[in-house]
Amino acid sequence: MTEISRNERLVLLFLKSASRKVREDEISIDGVDGRGIASAISYLDRKGLISVEKSYDVRYEATEEAKRYSEKGLPEERALDLSRDGKISVSEIMESLGSQEGRIALAQLSKLGLKPRNGAIDIADTEKIRKILRERREALKSIISGSSTDSESIRHFLGRGGLLREEKKMIRIVSINSSGFDALSSTGDEESLDQLTTEMLETGSWKGKKFRRYDISMPVTPVNGAYYHPLTALIKTIREIFFDMGFTEMTGNYVESSFWNMDALFIPQDHSARDMQDTFYVDTNADEKDIPGDLEKRVRRIHERGFDGYKGWRYPWSESESRKLLLRTHTTASTARYLYEHNGPPVSVFSVERVFRHESVDWKHLAEFHQIEGAVYSREVNLSTLKWILSEFYKKLGFRNIKLIPSYYPYTEPSMDVVVLFNGKEIELGGSGIFRPEVGKILGLKAPAMAWGLGLERLAFLYYDLEDIRSIYNSDIEWLRRFTLKI
Ligand code: PHE
Repeated sequence: MTEISRNERLVLLFLKSASRKVREDEISIDGVDGRGIASAISYLDRKGLISVEKSYDVRYEATEEAKRYSEKGLPEERALDLSRDGKISVSEIMESLGSQEGRIALAQLSKLGLKPRNGAIDIADTEKIRKILRERREALKSIISGSSTDSESIRHFLGRGGLLREEKKMIRIVSINSSGFDALSSTGDEESLDQLTTEMLETGSWKGKKFRRYDISMPVTPVNGAYYHPLTALIKTIREIFFDMGFTEMTGNYVESSFWNMDALFIPQDHSARDMQDTFYVDTNADEKDIPGDLEKRVRRIHERGFDGYKGWRYPWSESESRKLLLRTHTTASTARYLYEHNGPPVSVFSVERVFRHESVDWKHLAEFHQIEGAVYSREVNLSTLKWILSEFYKKLGFRNIKLIPSYYPYTEPSMDVVVLFNGKEIELGGSGIFRPEVGKILGLKAPAMAWGLGLERLAFLYYDLEDIRSIYNSDIEWLRRFTLKI
């Protein structure tokens, strides 16, 4: 037997006594509001107890502009009122109505046969036109007040654009069917109750009452739940790829010393990347304790004089320059710290973290972005293993056609950039290389180490097929909803 609620029963009774098709908004039941009725109708429909047809009510809502016209007069009416000596000049219309309404007025008047000649409109005989315009304004007023559905005027104003908004509302037309009659007779007159109240429990009046059973098989409308942001989803995928390959995740600081961001990586102190043009500096300096004294000595020695036949950069290294704090420009700063602080080989480590650069933002550049950093410190490290890891990583994300091209970084030799072909252009995804012996010496490495730093947003932009890297951060709700990777 189909269980029905009190509201459903009342709606069925209403339909029974109406004994015809009824518009949803015609149903009125004491003590049940419109929402209660609408939801009862939906349930009765799903239970197959009523027949439902859909029809659409179209209403026209006037915009602010239409309301203004109905009070002040239509632009074409106001233009006609400017006439002097049987003429109105175009420039006067534009001046008095402003260029936007002036243009509308001219277009409407010309449709009525009043076209400007030599910069003016001749309006010798315009009584008829004035009458048309008066009627037009009256029609607009009655559309606004909702008292007119004159289709010709509605078409006119819709065609002008910006004056009327069409509002379509779905109305259900319902009638009780034979299953509905059966349901009514089988539930009898006695209502089954929807709710058990505290009062019923206290007084015991629930005893002997009939309660409606929950129907847990009823379909419910799915709600828009929480999803990962596409970028977060991609980070998750990337982290899983590295975890699967046996990597450990590291974290670093947004604010870093020049020492770890540059000096420890053997970047000379006059290198252009240190420039204010490229790097955001912080006003304060790093704490002395932050940079181990013996390491500082080693960095000075290797920058100034090198070691074992490596010549160094041959300039006086400045301690105060290395203490300057900055917003890290690359996550290779974390790699340097990590390799210095951890024993190995072997070490394989990665991070997906934010970096900052003084860049002008455009379709493929951001000033704040993430790098997919990784490093392997092992006797197995060589150019082939580096190529293999990078291709393997991109392959797992679906990019088979990456290219590795020779490049230069002050801390790696050889160095390679990763590029992909995209819309006929080569897009650079990041850099990589095998650390130079000088870096190995500074960090105290006993075997070769390789590293890479790849742009996350550039990758996301290709992965999600975007036209502009900035759209990742635009929070366009439609775009976000397309990615339904559940949390
Ligand atoms: N740190 C480099 C960059 O930000 C990338 C890189 C990382 C290059 C590791 C070589 C080795 O562009």
